[in-house]
Amino acid sequence: MTMRALVVDPDAPGSLRLGTAPVPRPAPDQLVVEVRHISLNRGEVAFAHRLPAGTVHGYDAAGVVVRPAADGTGPAAGTPVAAFGPGAWAEHLAVTTDAVAAVPEGVALSDAAALPMAGLTALRTLRSRPILGRRVLITGASGGVGRYAVQLAALGGAHVIASVGSPARATGLTALGAHEVVVGLEGIDQPVDLVLDTVGGPQLTAAWALLAPGGDVQAIGWASGEPAVLAPNSLFSLGRAKTITSFGDVADPGPDLSTLLGHVAAGRLSPEIGWQGPWDRIAEAAGALLGRRVAGKAVLKVT
Ligand SMILES: NC(=O)c1ccc[n+]([C@@H]2O[C@H](COP(=O)([O-])OP(=O)(O)OC[C@H]3O[C@@H](n4cnc5c(N)ncnc54)[C@H](OP(=O)(O)O)[C@@H]3O)[C@@H](O)[C@H]2O)c1
Repeated sequence: MTMRALVVDPDAPGSLRLGTAPVPRPAPDQLVVEVRHISLNRGEVAFAHRLPAGTVHGYDAAGVVVRPAADGTGPAAGTPVAAFGPGAWAEHLAVTTDAVAAVPEGVALSDAAALPMAGLTALRTLRSRPILGRRVLITGASGGVGRYAVQLAALGGAHVIASVGSPARATGLTALGAHEVVVGLEGIDQPVDLVLDTVGGPQLTAAWALLAPGGDVQAIGWASGEPAVLAPNSLFSLGRAKTITSFGDVADPGPDLSTLLGHVAAGRLSPEIGWQGPWDRIAEAAGALLGRRVAGKAVLKVT
């Protein structure tokens, strides 16, 4: 049995095309979701070409459970869910029950699909330090992770500084909760306590220099693709240690996904979908995302 899916094809634009793949066979701890919407993340799109041809790509999906897990865990058939797992960009996704969350009434599946990777990343990196009353700098604030991070940092009581690449990309960030919006790191006149960095390169080097004693840079991503060069002695600082911390924690995402969906249901978190269309327009959506023309997330409908 086959299904339609977005598969890796080295000859397709962006190495992705709508094709077919075998219907997944769930393990005992996996349920099967009939996927209605998916969302793209920069890393998946940028590095699709590194995967073997025919791989069903993607991690973010929302749909309806059509087959509950054989081990009895997880939601029942018919439950609308958001899911985070490999092979998400397909008509059917087999995913472990600890990686799904029921979608509350009133939350659209298209919004739910926009949450998993970017929302979990923003939530978990912000939890690395107490942020109430602290200065939090978010780079790449116009993007998928960035727009969630701005909102969640503001919800957590931080003073939020949102950094964008150009003035046009600042649109909407103040309304989402940013107290300051800066282009690059220009105009930041006091040290910051926490940096969520999705850009890397020279901006990471400059962000490191802005850290207060005891501060931390969560090195989430490297959208710039550039190296970060630290000058001799720039890692020395008097007082409490400053840190750069890697991030890649995708374990047990279900409960955090539930938290994010709860915030959306309560009107405290906006999914910020900047591109929406059917999944056969994958090349257009991927091009817009990589071209920095999407404010937030690109969500595709499984038609
Ligand atoms: N560690 C993890 O587990 C994890 C999880 C999620 C994402 N990530 C990584 O985090 C980064 C951000 O992900 P995302 O999904 O938020 O991506 P996104 O939506 O594309 O946002 C990235 C932002 O980076 C900014 N940027 C600055 N310089 C850039 C450049 N030279 N090229 C492209 N963008 C540039 C862009 O903002 P302007 O247009 O305003 O400049 C863009 O809005 C990616 O590198 C991704 O792989 C890592």
